[in-house]
Amino acid sequence: MIYIISGVSGIGKTTIGKLLAESLSLPFYDGDDFHSEANKTKMADGVPLDDDDRLPWLRDLSDHMLRWNAGKGAVLACSALKEMYRDVLRSEVGADALFILLHADFETVRNRLKERTGHFMNINLLASQFETLEIPAYGIHINANNSVKNILKQIMKKIDNKSEIGILGLGIMGKSLALNLARKGISLSVYNRQVPDLEVDVAKRFIQENDGLAVSGFDSLELFVESLSVPRTILLMVPAGAAVDNTIRDLKPLLNENDLIIDGGNSHFEDSIRRHTDLKNEHLNFIDMGVSGGEKGALEGPALMPAGAPKVYARVAPILNNMAARDRNNNACSGYIGPAGSGHFVKMVHNGIEYAEMQLIAEMYHFLRYYQELNPEEIASVFSTWSASGSSSFLLDITIDILRTKEGDEYLVDLILDKAAQKGTGGWSVNAALSLGRPLDTIVAAVMSRYISAMKSERVNAAGHYQSLANPINVFDHNKLKNAYQGARIINHAIGFDLLRESSIQNDWNLNLSEIARIWTSGCIIRSELMEEFVRIFNDFRSQALLHPNLVSSLLDSKGDLISFVCESLHAGCSLAVHSAALNYFLGFSSAQSPANLIQAQRDYF
Ligand code: 6PG
Repeated sequence: MIYIISGVSGIGKTTIGKLLAESLSLPFYDGDDFHSEANKTKMADGVPLDDDDRLPWLRDLSDHMLRWNAGKGAVLACSALKEMYRDVLRSEVGADALFILLHADFETVRNRLKERTGHFMNINLLASQFETLEIPAYGIHINANNSVKNILKQIMKKIDNKSEIGILGLGIMGKSLALNLARKGISLSVYNRQVPDLEVDVAKRFIQENDGLAVSGFDSLELFVESLSVPRTILLMVPAGAAVDNTIRDLKPLLNENDLIIDGGNSHFEDSIRRHTDLKNEHLNFIDMGVSGGEKGALEGPALMPAGAPKVYARVAPILNNMAARDRNNNACSGYIGPAGSGHFVKMVHNGIEYAEMQLIAEMYHFLRYYQELNPEEIASVFSTWSASGSSSFLLDITIDILRTKEGDEYLVDLILDKAAQKGTGGWSVNAALSLGRPLDTIVAAVMSRYISAMKSERVNAAGHYQSLANPINVFDHNKLKNAYQGARIINHAIGFDLLRESSIQNDWNLNLSEIARIWTSGCIIRSELMEEFVRIFNDFRSQALLHPNLVSSLLDSKGDLISFVCESLHAGCSLAVHSAALNYFLGFSSAQSPANLIQAQRDYF
C-alpha cells in the first residue's frame, strides 16, 4: 500500500507523513524532493506551476510508487490537489494508493507557512493552491487543525478501521461501560459468548438496540480480538472467579506480545496478583481495576481504581479518565493506585466500607420504624433534613428515595423480604484484616449482620421465644441520632482507611490515601460529603485518621450521642451491630489502659 498524504502546502504533510511512516514501519518520501530544479525555481519565484510542469513530476512519482509497492510499501507526502493529478499518481498501483487528505482553512495554513523557513514554497502561492484544490469524495479526510498526535491517531484508526478498546462481557456493567465509551466517541468492539437458552445473540442485540453508535459487536472471540487495534486493550467485565481465568485462557492464544487485559470485575486481589505474574510470563500486560458505581455509575461515569505496571497504566490512562466520573474540580475519578493487586484490594475495602455504611442506615431505619413508630415517609423526611445539612451521601440519598417509593398503597420496603445477600467482597475484607492483623470491627459486624438476616426462619422461631425483650417506643432526639450516625461513619471510614494504610505498609504498595479518597468522591457507591474531608485529612497526614485534629474534634462532639444511642437502643431491645461495633472500636482504640494484661496473665496461667 502507498499512503499518499495530500493537501495544500504548509498543511503538515511532511510532519504527519514521517510520523505515519514510523508508525507503520514504512519508508517515507517527500514528493517535493522529486521536483525538477526548474519547478523548484519557479515556485520559489512565486510563479504557480501549471499542468505541464506538474505532469512529468507526477508520472515520475507514479513510477516510483510502483517500485515502492513491489517492496513493503511507502508513505508519500504529495499535494495531489486535482483529480487529474491523483489519476496520474495511481495509474500504476491502482487500488494500492490510499489518499489521506489533510484539511484546514486558509488562515490556519497561512499562519503556519509564515513560521516555516528554508522551504522553496512562496507564501503567495497558497491562494492558488486553495483554488486548485479539488476535494476528492473518496479516501481518508482529516481535519489538520488539531495536534499532531491526534491527527496521527485518527489516521491510524481510519487506516486499520480497528477499535481502540474491546469490552468482553455484556452483563449490566459491561453494557453500561460500553455505552459510556461509545457515547464519548471512542471506537469500541464488544463481545459476549453464546450460551444456548441463556446468553443468545447478546452482542448482536446490543448493537441493534444502540443503532447509531460506532460499536462493533461479536460473538466470535477470534473476530472480536481481530477487530482491535494493536497493541490491544481488552476490558473484561465477567463475574469474578473461574470465569475470569477461563476467559484469559481462551484469549491468550489469540493475543500478541504487549496486548493488555484489564479486569474490571470484583476479583479477589490475590487472584489478580497471580494473573499479573502469569500474563507477564507470557509477555502480556494486565491491570486489575476496581470499578464502582453500579449500572448508573458505569453509564454516566464510575470511579476507577486501576493497578499494575505504571507504564502499562499510562497507556490506557486517557481512555480510563474519559470513562470515569469527575470530582468537584472536574478531575477524573480514576488514578493509578499501585502495584499488581492493589486496585482490587482497594475496591474490596471500598465495598467493606459500603457494607458497614449500608448497615448503619438500616439500623437507624429499624430503630425509627419499630422503636419510634415512624412510617417510611417520616423516616425519609428525617434523613433528608440530614442530607441537606452536612450528612449527604449517595447511600443516604438513595435510601430516602427507596423509603418514599410505594407500590399501590404499600411502601416498597415493606414488600421486600428482610434477608440481605452478599457476593463476598465484605467477607474478603474481613479475611484481609485477619491476615494483616488489624481490627475491622464495623465491617465485621456488617458482614455478620447480613448472615444473621439470612437466618430468617431461625429468627422467626427465636422471636417466638424472646419477643418480650423488645421494649418499644423510646423518644430519642433526631439531632442526637444524626450526631451518633456521623460519629459511627467517621469511625467506619477510619477503620477502612486504616486497613488500606496497613496493607500499603506491609505490601510496600505506597498507596496514596488522599488520592484514593478523591477517587471515591464521585461515581462510586460510598461517595459523600464526609469523603471530601478524608481527601483533605490524608493530604498531609500519614497516621491513623482518628488521630487527625479535625476528626478528634468531631468525635469529641459526637461521642456522647453515639453512646446514648447505642445504650438506649440496646436497652429497648433493638439490635445495633455496626453502631455498637463502631463505638466499641472507638472506646478500645482511645483507651490507654486495656484489660489485655489480664488476658496475658490468663494465657500464661494455662
Ligand atoms: C460498587 C458496588 C458493587 C456491588 C458490590 C457489593 O462499588 O459498584 O460495590 O461492586 O454492590 O459487589 O455487592 P454485594 O452487596 O452483593 O456483596
